[in-house]
Order: sequence, then C-alpha cells, then structure tokens
Amino acid sequence: VLVGRDLECQTIRALVAGARVGQSGVLVLVGEAGIGKSALLDEAVDGVPGTLVLRATGTESEHELPFGGLLQLIRPALVHLDRIPAPQAEALAGALALHRGGGGDRFAVGAATLSLLSRFAEDHPLVLVVDDGHLLDLPSAQALAFAARRFTADRVAVLVAVREGLASPFTDGGLPLLRLRGLALEATADLLASTGSRSSAPVVARLHELTGGNPLALVELAGDSAALDPLPSGVPVPVPASLARVFARRTDRLSAQARTALLVAAASGTDVPLVARACELLSVDVSVLGEAEDAGLLSVDADVLAFRHPLVRSAVYSDAVPGARRAAHSALAAALHPDDADRRAWHLAEAALGPDEGTAQLLHDVALRAAGRSAHAVSASAFERAARLSPDRMQRTGRLVAAAEAAWRAGLTDVATALLDRASELRPPTGLRIAVSALRGRIAARTGSVEQARDLLLEAGADAAVSDPDTAVLLLAEGILACFFLADTASVATAADAIDRLLQLPASRAALGDRSRLVGELACGVAAVLTGRGGAARMRRAVRRLGVEDPVLGDPRVATWLVLGPLFLRESGTGRELVQTVVDGLRRRSVVADLPFLLFHVARDEATTDRWDVAGLTYAEGVHLARETGSAADLAACLAGLSWLEARQGRGVECRAHASEARELSAQRHMGLFQCWTLFALGELELGLGRPAAALPHLEQLVELLGELRLDDVDLSPGPELADVLVRLDREDDAREVAADYAARAAAKGQPWALARAARATALTCPEEEVDEHVARALHHHTATLDSFELARTQLSYGARLRRSRRRAAARPPLRAALGTFEALGAAPWADQAGAELLATGEAAPRRGASALTGLTPQEQQVARLLADGRTTREAAAALFLSPKTVEYHLRHVYAKLSIGSRAELSQRLGSRR
Ligand SMILES: Nc1ncnc2c1ncn2[C@@H]1O[C@H](COP(=O)(O)OP(=O)(O)OP(=O)(O)O)[C@@H](O)[C@H]1O
Ligand SMILES: [Mg+2]
Repeated sequence: VLVGRDLECQTIRALVAGARVGQSGVLVLVGEAGIGKSALLDEAVDGVPGTLVLRATGTESEHELPFGGLLQLIRPALVHLDRIPAPQAEALAGALALHRGGGGDRFAVGAATLSLLSRFAEDHPLVLVVDDGHLLDLPSAQALAFAARRFTADRVAVLVAVREGLASPFTDGGLPLLRLRGLALEATADLLASTGSRSSAPVVARLHELTGGNPLALVELAGDSAALDPLPSGVPVPVPASLARVFARRTDRLSAQARTALLVAAASGTDVPLVARACELLSVDVSVLGEAEDAGLLSVDADVLAFRHPLVRSAVYSDAVPGARRAAHSALAAALHPDDADRRAWHLAEAALGPDEGTAQLLHDVALRAAGRSAHAVSASAFERAARLSPDRMQRTGRLVAAAEAAWRAGLTDVATALLDRASELRPPTGLRIAVSALRGRIAARTGSVEQARDLLLEAGADAAVSDPDTAVLLLAEGILACFFLADTASVATAADAIDRLLQLPASRAALGDRSRLVGELACGVAAVLTGRGGAARMRRAVRRLGVEDPVLGDPRVATWLVLGPLFLRESGTGRELVQTVVDGLRRRSVVADLPFLLFHVARDEATTDRWDVAGLTYAEGVHLARETGSAADLAACLAGLSWLEARQGRGVECRAHASEARELSAQRHMGLFQCWTLFALGELELGLGRPAAALPHLEQLVELLGELRLDDVDLSPGPELADVLVRLDREDDAREVAADYAARAAAKGQPWALARAARATALTCPEEEVDEHVARALHHHTATLDSFELARTQLSYGARLRRSRRRAAARPPLRAALGTFEALGAAPWADQAGAELLATGEAAPRRGASALTGLTPQEQQVARLLADGRTTREAAAALFLSPKTVEYHLRHVYAKLSIGSRAELSQRLGSRR
C-alpha cells in the first residue's frame, strides 16, 4: 500500500470525480525516478467505479515508433473513428497506419484525438493514464498534450507521469503540474516497517536523510546494508545514480549467460519470444533469465517480461560494454519478423559500428514512412540517424537537411537549427545550400530575428533564380512577408522586381509552374500596394482566375497569398470569399501552425473596416494559437494589433498589457512595424480617453522611432493624431506645422486613406473660414476607403470645431453620425467624446446599450459568433479545435449571460452574417 500520499491521492480522486460529471481535469505528475509516480497512478485509478481507464506507458524501445503510444491509449475509442469530422478521421487513421494517407499537419492528429476521445467519453467517463510520458514517442505525446489542453466539459480526466528534468510536451505546454517530493520521515518509517525491515530510529533517520525520502531508494537500500555503508555521511547522493549502482552490482553477481540475456531484454522490450529468439542467435538459452528473476531484477509472466523498475533496465543497458550492446541489437534485428521494418532498422542502427549505407538507407525509408504518417519528430530522428551512418558526404548533408525540415514541421525549432548547423559544416552544394538558407529563414521569420529572415530568404531566392525558378519565386515571396513585418519597403521593391524578372522568363528557358506563377503575381501585387505603386489590377486578375474549388486553395504555401492578396486590395468585391474559403479549409484540416499569421491579417482587415467585435476575437485566437505553436513573430503581430484595437475600445488595462508584451517581443526581433503599432496604440488610448498630455509622449516617441527605423510610409505616421493632441493642448502653431508636414507627405503618396486623414488634420488647424473646404475634401477621400472609424473621427473633429465656433445647428449632424459609428463599432471612449460634444450643442443623444457580446469571455464570444452565423455545434467545435461538449458548455454560459434560450434568439441578438 501507498504511504504518505494522502493529499496527492485526494487531488487525483477529485479530478476523476470531476470527470464523471463533465468537468475535465488534467494533472501531470513530475518527479525523479523511484519517487512513486507509477505507484500513485496505480493506486489512484484502481477501482474507480463507473469510469473506463485507458492506459499507455512509454518505453525506450518504442520511443521511435510513430504513434505507438497513442494507439496503445486510444485503441478502444477507435470504434468511433467514423463519427468525427472526416479530415480529422483521415489524419488519425493515417497516423496510426490504419490505412494509407495522412502526412499532413501534426496538429490534425491532435485535433482528431480530441474529437475521438470526447466522443468516446459520451459513452463512459474516461480516465486516461499515461505512465513514463517522457518515453512516449514524441508525436503521440504532442497529440495528447494538444487534446489535454482542450478538454473542458468532457467526461475526461488525464493523468500523466513524467520524470523530472526531461523535456516533454506534457511539461512544456502549460498543463497543470504536481511535483512529487520524497516521503516525510514518518511515512518513511511506515514504508520501512511495511517492507518488514526492522530498522532502528537512527537508521530510519539516516536512510531518510540519504534518500531524501525516495521510496524506491528506501526499499532497495534498507535491504542492502552493503550499499548503505560506503555512502558518504551527511550529503545526500543523487538518488537515481546511487540506485543504478545498486542494481548494477546485483547484475554483476549473475552468470555471464544471464547477463547477456538480461542485456537483450533491456535492449528489446517486453516480448519474451523475441528475446528468446535473439538469445538463441547469441547461443544463450533464455531460461537463464530465471537467475535475474531470482535476484529480483525482473519478472516474467507468460510471454511478457517486466523489469523490477525502469532504473534496472537502464542500469543493465548502460553498464554493458559497447560491443555487447551492439551484439544484442544485431541479434534482435535478426530475430525480428521481416515485416517489422522500422524496429529492425533501429536495431541495425544501434548495431552498426561506423558508417553503413545499407542501414542508412533503411533508416531513410523509416523517416519517409514516419513523415507519411505526420510523425515528423520520428522522421527527424530517423533522418538524423541515417545521416550519421551515411558514408557519402553528399548523402549525409541531404539527410541532415531532411532531418532539419522534419524537426521544423514537428515544432522542434532548436533541434532543426542544430541540424542545419551540422549540414552547413559539410559545405553543401548549391541546391542544398539554398534549402538550408530557406529553412533558416523560415525559422527566423517565425521564432527569431525577422531581419535575419529577410536576408536569408531573399538571398536564397536570388541563389535559386537560375537553377530552380519555381522555388526562387516562393522564397522571394516569403522574403516579402518578412519585409512587411519589418516595414522595409525598399527590400520589398527589390524582391518584387526579382520575381517579376522570373515571371517574364521566356517559356523556352524555364516555365514556371502554376503555383509559383500565382504566388508570384499575388506577391508582386501586395508588394506594389506596400510600396505605393498600384498593384490592384494585377491582384484582381490573378484572383479572378481562381474558382472556389481550385485545388491550389489547399496548398499551404499559396494559402497565405490568397488571403493577403484580397485583404490588401480592400475591395468589397474581389476575392473576399476566397479568404473565408482558405481559412476555413485550414481549420478543417487543422493546419494550426499556419493559422496565426493568417488570422493576424484577417483580424487587421476586420479592425480597419466595421467588424471590430469579430476582429478582437480573431486577434485573440491568433494570440492563443501563436503561443501554442511557439511562433513569436505572429504572437507579436497579433498582440500589437489587439492592443491597438483595445486602445480604440478604451480597454486600458488589456491594451497596456498586450502592448507591452508585443513591444518586448518585437524589439527582440527587430519588428519595427509592431513597435510602432504599440506606441500608436498607447497614444490613441490616451487621446481617446481625453488625456492629450498623456498621449503626447507616446506619439512623439513614435515619430522618433519611425525616423530611426526610416519608416517613411505616411500611413504609419501619427500626424493627424499628433495635431489633434497639440490642438487640445493649445499648441496651435505646433499643430499647424505637424499637419502641414503630414499633408505634404500624404499628397506625395496620393492614396485616399492618407489624403483623408491629412485633410482632417488641416481642418483642425486652418483658419475658421477654410474649415468647410478641408472637411469636404476629407469626406470625399473617406468615401474611397472602408475605414469607418477614420471617417467618424473626421466627423467628430469637424462637429467639435463647429460647436466651438458656436455653429451649433451645423455641428449636430456630423456629431450624430460620428456617435452612431463609434457606438456601432464599440469605440466607447470616442462615443463618449461625441456624446459630450453633442450635449454641448444642446442635444442629449440617446445612447445605445453596450454590445450584445459584452460580459462574455473570448471563447464564449467565439462560440456565440459561429453559432449565430448558422454553424452546427460540431462545425463550430472543429473550427475552434474544441470538443462539441465544450462548445455546448460555452453556449450554456452564453445563454445564461444573455438571458436567452435558443439559437434563433442568439442569431437575432448577434445578427447572422451568413
Ligand atoms: N508512497 C509510497 N508508499 C509505498 N511504496 C511506494 C510509495 N511510492 C512508491 N513506492 C514504491 O517505490 C517503488 C518506486 O516507485 P515508482 O515505480 O512508482 O516510481 P516512479 O516515480 O514511477 O519512478 P520512474 O520515474 O522510474 O518511473 C515502487 O516499488 C513503489 O511500489
Ligand atoms: Mg514509473
């Protein structure tokens, strides 16, 4: 029985009890070897009535087998496979090798795992138990952690045990942890008593001191006084290490034959017939394992072999001489069934002494098979091992690059970078060198310095222009995206020119594929918009050629441009439906890693038109997914956008928090654009709240930063806001100067958005008699843009100026219009200003109530929005990577908070957008 773990048992029991009533719970037990994680798990889930316990245990020998752990765990749930969304079912079936296919995004397997288990839990409450989580194959662990983060209202409890100090998706992903420490002195005495050892109080105290209360160490050392004496007094030794020595000494006493059999067992797994066959090849009779059994090192039950403890296994294995280990693996490889190609390849790899192309090729095949099942982490290790075994330098380099690409797809950024470093040291030939720079650039763009990303991608693109124009176009296009984050328009122009040259290559030389041609056209269009050189016609042409069914829509490298193109166009007609199709498609296929970047652009579009409520949700989802996928650049972008929106909504606390995180992230990555956005946000926040003196330093800092970064695009300049602030501070002359400077730059750019803002700034500072004329010009330019907030700002400042010069009747219409827009958008502080101005003209404006969504959490808002738009619970669940139960749970809260009781009422309240 378990001693001294009452609290822990209670915690786990409460978790399981919660699961039975539909409150999901997750707990990751963390602690050193022998501390009692497995014992606690066994005790806690033993005989919980009315629940179904699903178990999986990680093992060293299965660590590189794709989704072995996941299959172990969810096998009983697979009866529901055809009841989850089809793309998810396909991804999961492919991952588990139930049929061919898969090979998509790793997150799809996580989303499918969530759906499947959630569905299974509708039949019975589930307790998922994963022991030795650190040894689970990585793709399985990633999928389970993804699902575990999302169980909310499902009848599911998740319990995982992980060794302390080892990286694992279970401990690195924000799941609740419970650290197991050693037993207290009293429990130590109880434990020792229960083993039958009659130790005196001083011996108990000494054992407790030496072992720190580690139960395994206590039990082993108490029965082994020989081990106790040589230990230095006073200092506790690292327990697992000293335990390993105890076990190793016990192994030493066995016969040579038994040691060989034990080593074969340690190298293989739990399958006795396999161990027997391998032993035979080594001329050892497997029955000698009886010696090890007698020594208490392992037990054999029917055909299954179990070590006394994982530490025994690792002690046996690491104590053996390398030659003996290789012989054991070699025998195991020979003893395996010929169909067991993956295991055989890994054993051969362990058996190999020095390079061996035959084995390298086998591992290369393992890697390809793993990639085909979305087990990218396994694919990476197999490629890496294949590289190490490759005699040929070119082969080795190619396999290292392939390993790096797989590691990146698996989300293992540091591993990928280290592999690229190794590939670079081998002085790769042109094609591979381009691949190395391209991946380095892609990694930098998402997680590192965006400046570096720009240089790497553009360089790789230029390098590829001759040998591989298709790749060159895609790389240059990616480079343009990095430039956008940096607000580096000069490089945008250069890259676009390079793409243009490739697009115009004579067909005789190198015909570009359809995909790169489309990406090239759209990228050049976006580049032209960014550099103020038109571009609209070109994008329109490219987009119009596409049907909603076009297969190219599913290609992730095209997806980005199909979203960006239409959004940069900012026209209601062209390509809008494409944006939705592409984003929905990515959601359906759970291409989670690509979503944050696109969500950022979609949100930005929503925030600069009239869909502020949705924009906030889209930004928030982008933030959430960017955090989960470790994409720092997208995180900075989404946070910056969100803070700016919140500034305008007058949500000061959130705005400041998000702005400061965004600033830190973007400063580290030289993402000048977003440093500017956050300053803009902080300035506008104060201005909106009617605190011009507080706004001034932020805006001045922004102007300074723009100068430092040489960001000359007038659309980034806060000229009109600064002029507004200065007028409010009675610094008329300064305001006039700022407005004039801005107007000159807007005229140079010649785009309506800037011209409208310029005319507003001028109207703020010009002599009385010119006001109407400038405002008329502003209104004229506003009609050419979709940004209703900017229009309302013009109407507000016009009305305010008219009111100050006592033209009260004339002031009212623009103020009313501004008030209406601000309220519809949810620009609370600006609505307050407009309302106050209107009141000062003698008109008490009836104020609308708060938005229907106020008071709902972001997830409740998202659920409400999707359901109001007519999606079913299951569709909404799949789109948000949640379980249907969780969607229903949020919906219940929405109903309660809005005091409604049906979807029809919900659609009515929120207005359907379908
Ligand atoms: N609280 C306890 N009371 C009594 N015995 C215990 C207790 N905790 C652990 N043990 C015993 O100590 C031994 C080691 O515990 P256990 O195997 O659970 O450790 P672990 O944390 O799972 O180690 P590892 O990380 O190596 O898997 C087992 O034999 C177990 O039965
Ligand atoms: Mg254990």
